[in-house]
Amino acid sequence: MLDRRSLLKNTAAIAAYAAMPVSTRAAEQQTLRSAALSRGLLYGTAVGAKLLNSDPLYRDLVAKQAGILVCESESKRKVLQPTQDTFNFGPADTIWRFAATNGQKMRGHTLIWHDYNPDWVVDALARKPSERIITDYISTVARRYRGRTHSWDVVNEVINIEEKYPDFMRRSSPWYQAFGESYIDIAFHAAKEADPDAILFLNELNPEADERWSANIRRGTLDLIDRLLRRNVPIEAVGIQAHLKVFRTSYNDDVFSKFLDEIIARGLMVMITELDITDIDGPADPEVRDEAVASLAKRFLDVAFSKEQSLGCLTWGITDRYSWLNSHWKYKHPDGRISRSLPFDTNYSPKAMFSAMVSAYSAAPTRS
Ligand code: G3I
Repeated sequence: MLDRRSLLKNTAAIAAYAAMPVSTRAAEQQTLRSAALSRGLLYGTAVGAKLLNSDPLYRDLVAKQAGILVCESESKRKVLQPTQDTFNFGPADTIWRFAATNGQKMRGHTLIWHDYNPDWVVDALARKPSERIITDYISTVARRYRGRTHSWDVVNEVINIEEKYPDFMRRSSPWYQAFGESYIDIAFHAAKEADPDAILFLNELNPEADERWSANIRRGTLDLIDRLLRRNVPIEAVGIQAHLKVFRTSYNDDVFSKFLDEIIARGLMVMITELDITDIDGPADPEVRDEAVASLAKRFLDVAFSKEQSLGCLTWGITDRYSWLNSHWKYKHPDGRISRSLPFDTNYSPKAMFSAMVSAYSAAPTRS
């Protein structure tokens, strides 16, 4: 049942859709899902269970445009296991069910992360618990969704150059504090045993930029992969989150391409797992911001999709209306304007970024 605020919001959006020129609606007929599939790639988005239940226009857009979904928060430990004795699978089940209903794949995000853990986990880790705090959880969660999950982000954001360790590892992570780097090995082996068919990812933040600090993230990531492979850890892919900043961070095609080649040379697949392109620090004119975002999206995805071992791309949200960027202290616009970072605008209309992404998929080499 829609509450009054949601009803008003959706009425406005429906009116905006009705006012949309037929040509734009026609553009919507060509979906990101079909453009990706035509090249053997995937397009998808992070979604929220509450939004799927409350916003029919959002629900329809997700159903039509995405070939793979990931929970924005519902499959993180703070939601899934709020106390040691309780699991709360309801919200995540809603999304896995929605995906099944719409013939969409699912990504699991994320089994082990330094952030968004329930307090009881953080407290337990400080007391140096047994490895079962990792293995029991991963076994319970990954078995539940076994056979219905394309891939898992087994570990997320394990590099942190701010800590300035020679290996660039995030040693402040409660997992690292409790088990050393071996927490990563333990997690991957547990995930492989729980769901042998899911592709197992290391998911990383900010390795793609043409900046010195990003070069250190790339170095840390590649050296970690080498250590994991030497220890026979079953890592199979690297997720590049790709929270890009078109007016704040430098980007170079060759730098990004070389990084992907180095991952692939280690026998791993790659995927863009959380693409959005914040327009923070951009000019006031939304058209200028949209064009800059679209141009970077095209360049970035042209490089990513040029690699045969590329699995595709998920955006971190599909409409500007609900982007996390609008509420994050680092990226929300001081004047309160909405971040124009995703393929569809606040009225669910396709933006220049949508066309750029369709074009990047259409230009990609076909893979089996
Ligand atoms: O659901 C509760 C709600 O009941 C409560 O009233 C409200 C206010 O406290 O909080 C709600 O939970 C929020 C949750 O998102 C669901 O909306 C949390 O506070 C908030 O911290 C959480 O933020 C998410 C964050 O990860 C932490 O899980 C962001 O939406 C999500 O976009 C962000 O996603 C991360 C990826 O997992 C990893 N890569 C970076 C990316 C962006 O930070």
